[in-house]
Amino acid sequence: MVRRFILALIVVFIIYYFSMKPPEIKQPLNFNHKAHTDLLIECIACHRDAESQREAGIPNIETCELCHNSKNIPLWNITSHSLKGYITEKRQIPWERIYKIKDHTLFSHRRHIGIARIDCRVCHGAVKEMTESIIRPSIEFSKQRGMNNCVDCHKKERVVTDCLMCHR
Ligand code: HEC
Ligand code: HEC
Ligand code: HEC
Ligand code: HEC
Ligand code: HEC
Repeated sequence: MVRRFILALIVVFIIYYFSMKPPEIKQPLNFNHKAHTDLLIECIACHRDAESQREAGIPNIETCELCHNSKNIPLWNITSHSLKGYITEKRQIPWERIYKIKDHTLFSHRRHIGIARIDCRVCHGAVKEMTESIIRPSIEFSKQRGMNNCVDCHKKERVVTDCLMCHR
């Protein structure tokens, strides 16, 4: 009796757990951030607009091709078949966008990177350690805490927290 009860409890828990998990996003290709940042390539080298624009930007295939090209034979040999395909056909990789706030909210990388000099890690977590493509926002950024995350830091840094500054 007790055993059956515990078993039922476990089943209920498993169903609950999986129904709570957000739908998994699949990226078209595995991208290993760590392999690249270990080479001391700066975040800004690929996300080129982070200091000067609202959007940080995702690197295009031409950026990948700077290193992954058939003249760079040792690297070309270890370049995966699917990445070679995109490069030789000059097709952009259709990455899924992960970090996104609602349209009525305003966020600018320029303000936070170019001016306030905040480390990417504060909002995006340890991207440097990631060996697989990004498929969900960092815990730091989790949706539920989205607004608190912004407002807490603004209070600490004595930046205005007027609703209309972030909501249009
Ligand atoms: C060699 C180029 C390269 C470098 C260097 C690089 N990135 Fe990326 N980054 C990418 C690519 C390609 C993607 C899209 C694939 C993915 O999501 O993993 C991406 C995705 C991201 C995303 C998710 C964007 C979204 O919302 O979909 C974040 C955040 C990010 N990078 C932060 C960083 C940070 C922080 C650093 C430095 C520690 C960094 N990146 C260094 C190429 C790079
Ligand atoms: C203060 C928090 C914060 C910091 C610091 C920050 N980001 Fe972001 N990032 C965001 C938010 C918020 C979004 C979603 C913006 C939107 O939907 O308009 C985002 C989106 C992105 C995206 C995907 C969309 C895009 O802008 O192209 C990339 C890539 C990215 N960030 C990279 C970086 C990199 C690289 C750094 C460091 C140089 C960095 N971010 C620092 C908060 C931050
Ligand atoms: C500055 C040079 C450089 C740039 C730019 C660069 N890579 Fe790389 N990439 C490398 C090197 C070097 C390695 C091998 C790292 C290792 O062996 O650990 C690598 C490894 C990889 C791998 C793992 C190997 C494989 O065959 O799967 C993938 C995938 C990859 N890069 C994708 C990309 C994509 C996508 C871009 C463009 C967004 C890009 N790289 C831009 C230098 C670069
Ligand atoms: C520093 C920026 C910032 C300030 C200041 C701010 N918000 Fe927000 N707010 C956000 C972000 C970011 C979100 C999350 C958007 C998302 O979920 O994509 C949000 C979400 C919300 C939501 C939920 C909206 C939805 O569509 O789910 C409401 C309501 C809201 N804010 C009201 C307010 C009010 C009222 C104030 C003033 C007291 C305020 N906010 C101040 C950034 C801010
Ligand atoms: C780690 C601290 C930190 C976090 C997290 C942060 N901000 Fe900021 N934010 C700042 C600082 C510092 C400034 C002032 C930069 C300057 O001097 O222009 C600023 C400025 C701004 C401005 C421009 C203010 C103006 O005067 O026009 C907006 C809009 C803004 N942030 C929105 C956001 C939103 C939306 C989020 C969350 C997604 C966010 N911020 C998260 C620190 C932060």
